[in-house]
Amino acid sequence: MTDKISNNNNVTWFNGYVGREDREKLHGHNGAVIWFTGLSASGKSTIAHLAEKELHQRGVSTYVFDGDNVRHGLCSDLTFSREDRIENIRRIGEMIRLFVDGGMIVLTAFISPFREDRRKVRSLLQEGQFLEVYVECPPEVCAARDHKGIYAKAKAGEIKEFTGISAPYEAPENPDLVIRSFEEDAPKAAKRVIELIEQRELI
Ligand code: ADX
Repeated sequence: MTDKISNNNNVTWFNGYVGREDREKLHGHNGAVIWFTGLSASGKSTIAHLAEKELHQRGVSTYVFDGDNVRHGLCSDLTFSREDRIENIRRIGEMIRLFVDGGMIVLTAFISPFREDRRKVRSLLQEGQFLEVYVECPPEVCAARDHKGIYAKAKAGEIKEFTGISAPYEAPENPDLVIRSFEEDAPKAAKRVIELIEQRELI
């Protein structure tokens, strides 16, 4: 139970008496992350929250993290430069690893524009614990439905390095699920997310 691993700073990781599998047994399901990626206003949060509602009703222990909320606290010191976005996803990855170790099903809604950063988060987890959901939506459609008005600001040059307008977005090459949110409504999309979770036998 208590194998201890030291890092270079003489800080030791202590494994407790209760492990992930014990916690999963208590929850009655596996721990995993459903990682939504896509442009701002593509529908990531809406779909993640709808899927969470359904999972919660079925007695699954869940938590949703999204970009706007996390950037109010844990990542409030970060900008949208390439470097800071990398750091944003790195911190979130570490946080999610702990939640998955806690036996929870975590749903995340971050633009997470870079493939390499998403790959790194996947590599922190075990096989099958990271499911990537690509919420595909053209920037024009995102801009038309944008209730925060940020696309207008980005087009006017008031927001620099805006994903899909003046900063890059790297779509997943091999996602576990693709949701074309400009063709499919959010409740239907959330249902497909639940089906994916069932197919992978996480619940
Ligand atoms: S990420 O690129 O680092 O993954 P994250 O998901 O945390 O982004 O935050 C995205 C949210 O921040 C967007 O939904 C939007 O509301 C807001 N935002 C503010 N500035 C920008 C910007 N330059 N690019 C993208 N989103 C921005």
